[in-house]
Amino acid sequence: MPGIHIRDFRAVDLPDAAALLAARQVRDREQLPFLAKAYEEPRECEPLLRQAISEPAYGGGVAALSGDTLVGYLLAEKNLFPPTSLPAQFIPPYTMSVGLQCHAVSSAVDAVEVYRAMYAAAAERWVASGFFEHRVYVIAGDRDAEEAWVTCGFGRGLTCAVRPTADPVSVAGELPGLEIHQAASEDLDVVMRLEHTNNAHHWGSPIFWPYLHETQPAAREHQANLLAEAANAHFVAYRDGVPVGMDTFNAPDWVNPMLQGGRMIYLFQGVVEEAARGGGVGKALLARSMAWAHEQGYDWCALHFASMNPSGAPFWRGQGFVPVEHTMARRIDERVAWARP
Ligand SMILES: CC(C)(COP(=O)(O)OP(=O)(O)OC[C@H]1O[C@@H](n2cnc3c(N)ncnc32)[C@H](O)[C@@H]1OP(=O)(O)O)[C@@H](O)C(=O)NCCC(=O)NCCS
Repeated sequence: MPGIHIRDFRAVDLPDAAALLAARQVRDREQLPFLAKAYEEPRECEPLLRQAISEPAYGGGVAALSGDTLVGYLLAEKNLFPPTSLPAQFIPPYTMSVGLQCHAVSSAVDAVEVYRAMYAAAAERWVASGFFEHRVYVIAGDRDAEEAWVTCGFGRGLTCAVRPTADPVSVAGELPGLEIHQAASEDLDVVMRLEHTNNAHHWGSPIFWPYLHETQPAAREHQANLLAEAANAHFVAYRDGVPVGMDTFNAPDWVNPMLQGGRMIYLFQGVVEEAARGGGVGKALLARSMAWAHEQGYDWCALHFASMNPSGAPFWRGQGFVPVEHTMARRIDERVAWARP
């Protein structure tokens, strides 16, 4: 791109990169005012970036300069989770990912072209080192970022959405025979059965997420640990004594701090057994869960849904969840490694 020079990211770039990120947060909050205000300050952004380049998983970074001025940066992280660990269920092996805080471009330049130039330089190294799965996290509604990544072959896979817990979930009335209880450790088998239903749904078309049996022990251990603490509430709906749905909660560890504009709780799984769907169980569960979250002093509830999920995506949006971040991904054809000029 004329006038723009791409080179490796250096630690001395951190203050200027933090200023670009803070300016992006100002722009993003014009569209989504409930994002974290603190990150409108470069001094709050700088530690996020310093941490990114200090992690053992840091996958390198590039800087875009116009003359001597930093106008963009892109920092990558190697996602190399053990194949039996819980994150392996959600993130493919050898993924190179660019977190929400790990990229920004000045509003004074053509952001689409600068992103494209930075990706071209970075991806050459990623592919040469065996990383064929590329991910980037972008703010929902950032049209330049989406245009840049879409034109580089990325598609939307996952959406993070948030809703104020104070907004009531309108339910018509009590559903006959339906009771909602908070689960405890002895309900682990019930929770795992409903988790299976949720995972089976995500295995099917058009989502096609792998159903990994190797990660099952880690998933069970994760649920057991969550159930051991009441702060991670699990609500299970029973119809005539039979479990038909659940909402599970935990701390928002998987939500970028830039998206947390208040006290937040994370809705990890929301699922209703197939035969009971469409009858108001999902909404009854959410009404109970949001009342609990509000009572506990949480301002916001966040969750992720697969963008193509035919039931989860419309359900959450219909219940007031507003998309704040999209995960975009590209898989490179591995034959490029040996099919060479
Ligand atoms: C998403 C899910 C939990 C919703 O539970 P549910 O019991 O089917 O939903 P409800 O019957 O309470 O429906 C509540 C509202 O959502 C709407 N809704 C539910 N499923 C929908 C769908 N597939 N498409 C469009 N709207 C839908 C209903 O029309 C209803 O609208 P209303 O409030 O205007 O009457 C359930 O369908 C499910 O388990 N899906 C598979 C697993 C999944 O995708 N979970 C989410 C993972 S992110």
